[in-house]
Amino acid sequence: MASEPVLSIRNLVKRFGGLVAVNDVSLDVFPGEVVALLGDNGAGKSTLIKCVSGVHSPTGGHIIFEGEEVHFSRPIEARDHGIETIYQDLALANNLDVPGNVFLGREVEKSYLGGLLRPLDNKFMLAQTASALASLHAEIPSLEVPIESLSGGQRQAVAIARAVYWQARLMIMDEPTNNLGVPEQHKVLDLIRALRDRGVPVILISHTLPEVFAVSDRLVVMHRGRKVTEKKVGDTNSEEIVQYMVGALDDTRTPAPVA
Ligand SMILES: Nc1ncnc2c1ncn2[C@@H]1O[C@H](COP(=O)(O)OP(=O)(O)O)[C@@H](O)[C@H]1O
Ligand SMILES: [Mg+2]
Repeated sequence: MASEPVLSIRNLVKRFGGLVAVNDVSLDVFPGEVVALLGDNGAGKSTLIKCVSGVHSPTGGHIIFEGEEVHFSRPIEARDHGIETIYQDLALANNLDVPGNVFLGREVEKSYLGGLLRPLDNKFMLAQTASALASLHAEIPSLEVPIESLSGGQRQAVAIARAVYWQARLMIMDEPTNNLGVPEQHKVLDLIRALRDRGVPVILISHTLPEVFAVSDRLVVMHRGRKVTEKKVGDTNSEEIVQYMVGALDDTRTPAPVA
């Protein structure tokens, strides 16, 4: 690819005490690309992306975002750089409505009496939220209801609309279709494509290989903390990827000498 990577991870290591959760992983993500991060439970996928999103500080290695090395010590620092992450548990505020979630921590206020009164500009936030959702062709009947009353797919749409509205430069999604029904899974995949079509690269963690093959450009497989392969989607298939996920294939292993 001719363009510069949006994200370069170099020789990343993350230890928890004696456990090496991420072991010397390097990885590039280019503009407008969907990169799937695959691996069995405990492979280190979530830990790797949490190093990028500011949840964990890496033990070693480098993270280069848009050409500059970054050291995030809190998730808000990553968000301020345009790295939006949807974690396995989603992290929306259940009791707030849809605009309340899109503008969470970044609420827009009106100003009266020279700033003496600063009520929230709910009308503005509602209109902006509605247009962000419309631009993604996401249908949510009413925005002024608590998020907890929405379906799983609608909640994903809200999280993605938040990323679009705040002009995310990189979207990270950790198992976004877990616990969703099939029609909703398809909607989330459409949302991922909509992000990609806007040039926003996506790192997608998923266990569902058919959906990974349907939406990704490149696949990266981790096994026990290490990256064991990286393939273009057209150069591999589910059977081969499973072999890498279970550790039967490993591109980093030196071949056994021929006797
Ligand atoms: N906060 C933590 N403290 C200690 N160990 C952790 C922590 N988070 C993850 N681990 C361990 O790191 C390894 C990788 O976990 P994780 O990144 O969640 O894997 P995956 O997302 O691929 O299932 C596992 O052995 C897990 O138990
Ligand atoms: Mg995980």
